Amino acid sequence: MSKILVLNGPNLNLLGTREPEHYGRVTLEQINAKAKAVAKEAGVALIAMQSNAEHELVQYVQEANSQGVDFIIFNPAAFTHTSIALRDAVIASGIPLIEVHLSNIHKREEFRRHSYFSDIAHGVICGLGAYGYIAAVHAAIEFLNSK
Ligand code: DQA
Repeated sequence: MSKILVLNGPNLNLLGTREPEHYGRVTLEQINAKAKAVAKEAGVALIAMQSNAEHELVQYVQEANSQGVDFIIFNPAAFTHTSIALRDAVIASGIPLIEVHLSNIHKREEFRRHSYFSDIAHGVICGLGAYGYIAAVHAAIEFLNSK
């Protein structure tokens, strides 16, 4: 059975109440539950992790191969714009990845326009809110089925 890891970076544990004008009112728990249900329907396993700490996220990516993860859906949050360490971990893992952002990072402050992940990602989804994760799960399933 294929396995998808949905990984979320700092402050995304606060979804639901954090800056709803940018990130909506859906909680991370609700997003993960829906993502799991969509994956289950397709016969794909899905695990979800979140951390506010860069080194823990690096650790999760490093461990993904030994956990049997075939695909990563990653919202690195603020680390999108800063973390060479996480970029290097993703490249070292060799696992295909979709980068997700709830908000449209190109419509906001200039510093959010650069991502350390977009050029190494299979695809990028931004600005679709919580649905972006669900769209990413569908795309990941399509990718895994076409292998
Ligand atoms: C975000 C966008 C980032 O710029 C920001 O730092 C976040 C969330 C998003 O999902 O829109 O924390 O990744």
